[in-house]
Amino acid sequence: MNHFLDIHKTNASDLRGMIDQARKMKDARKGLPKGTPDADQPLANHLVALIFEKPSTRTRVSFDVGVRQLGGQTLVLSGADMQLGHGESIADTARVLSRYVDMIMIRTFDEATLLELAEHATVPVINGLTDRTHPCQIMADILTFEEHHGPIKGKKVVWTGDGNNVCASFLHAAGQFGFDLTFTGPESLDPEQEFVDFARSKGSTITLERDADKAVEGADLIVADTWVSMHDDKAAAKHNLLQPYQVNEHLMAGAKSDALFMHCLPAYREQEVTTAVLDGPQSVIFDEAENRLHAQKAVMRWCLGK
Ligand code: CP
Ligand code: NVA
Repeated sequence: MNHFLDIHKTNASDLRGMIDQARKMKDARKGLPKGTPDADQPLANHLVALIFEKPSTRTRVSFDVGVRQLGGQTLVLSGADMQLGHGESIADTARVLSRYVDMIMIRTFDEATLLELAEHATVPVINGLTDRTHPCQIMADILTFEEHHGPIKGKKVVWTGDGNNVCASFLHAAGQFGFDLTFTGPESLDPEQEFVDFARSKGSTITLERDADKAVEGADLIVADTWVSMHDDKAAAKHNLLQPYQVNEHLMAGAKSDALFMHCLPAYREQEVTTAVLDGPQSVIFDEAENRLHAQKAVMRWCLGK
């Protein structure tokens, strides 16, 4: 059994295997009604707990649908309604849930909660977002990029805005999948050095560029995310700092002519990105959302060794 806690903690060839398997599973069910079971049912007789301590649309629905397509069943749980939200230890919660279910996905605040859950669970644990990282999102994003543009290895990705949890997982992926990443945003919102160092240690070129116009030169992919993440309390100050990093048609025009635009969603239109870009021809945001489903099905199979 494997935990899927972060991209840098997962073997690079396993990650590649998951992306390839996701693509095959996606192709195999093209045009079928969404509730059609996959031909292969690796989660038959399996129960999966989906725990949410923060809001979610995509993670909640894509995991729930994915488990069903693979033949399993889900329990969708709100952290606040569990004893977990009222003082029961994470270790005890992990031990108890491991007696009832075969796999646990959790979206939480503090990364320590995820790590403690994984330490004490005897079933696989999947990171569905913490304040620090969001690995499932980036697995979907790699799948999406490669569907449109082929191998991501050697390509240039530009992250705009806040060096947040999604940016962190992009940096992990740069190292593991072999692409370069330029971060463009204010210095006070730089990604943590640890994430940059990981990618550099694997040979990726990681650049921090304050000038957004310079940053996007030669880019194959431009990525934006909300300026204010769910765990954030600095909303007003961040809006002022981040305005120069809005992705608009002018910024897109500075990248390669076939550059893609991605956003994990939810998006705040006319803030981090304009509607013209979000709904424009280079945007692949709904492919990304769909690919959460396919990528996570591959992640779940890998967790169970299937
Ligand atoms: N992108 C993403 O994780 O979306 P949700 O917050 O809706 O799950
Ligand atoms: N950075 C965002 C991602 C939401 C999916 C947040 O943490 O709120």
